Amino acid sequence: MFGLKVPTPVGWLPVIMGDFDAFLLDHAANERKASAMAMHLVSHYPDRTELVREMVDLACEELEHFRLVHRVIEARGLRLAPDTRDAYVRALQQQCRKGSKVYFLDRLLVAGIVEARGCERFGLVADALPAGELKELYVDFTRSEARHHGLFARLARVYFDEAVVATRTGELLEVEAEVMVALPLRPALH
Ligand SMILES: [Fe+2]
Ligand SMILES: [Fe+2]
Repeated sequence: MFGLKVPTPVGWLPVIMGDFDAFLLDHAANERKASAMAMHLVSHYPDRTELVREMVDLACEELEHFRLVHRVIEARGLRLAPDTRDAYVRALQQQCRKGSKVYFLDRLLVAGIVEARGCERFGLVADALPAGELKELYVDFTRSEARHHGLFARLARVYFDEAVVATRTGELLEVEAEVMVALPLRPALH
């Protein structure tokens, strides 16, 4: 899917379904961070008009996702938990090279890869959930993540040469596969 080198390990889904409350809390945090990340790009690259327009839309959409997940959390009588470090996202962000041009490219590509993995995993969750509102919600999240992956891939090609984008995407996807496979299985998106 989207060039991801390795599918999510089969052991991941049972861990999620075995503690769906914990997964929801982590998922909510991911949506909030995705929204903040989009606005961070806006503040970092204010002169890139197309990027700014797309990231403002994305920030709103991810915040809406946060609102939807938080509603489920509230309905279950749960409460948001303090932030924990996301070793997966951190490891990928550490791959962003120094130097303003390559750093920008890497940030776009890493964001797109995180969306791609999110899409794959929300799809697994959507398939596993029984018919109902929650399943529909995860079907929608899966579609959104697919779109977001496409958005970052397109933005990378707006600002960079197609061949450069393809080469670097391949390199980052290799790293992503290594990082993802090494993650401990826990009731969390990553
Ligand atoms: Fe989202
Ligand atoms: Fe997203």
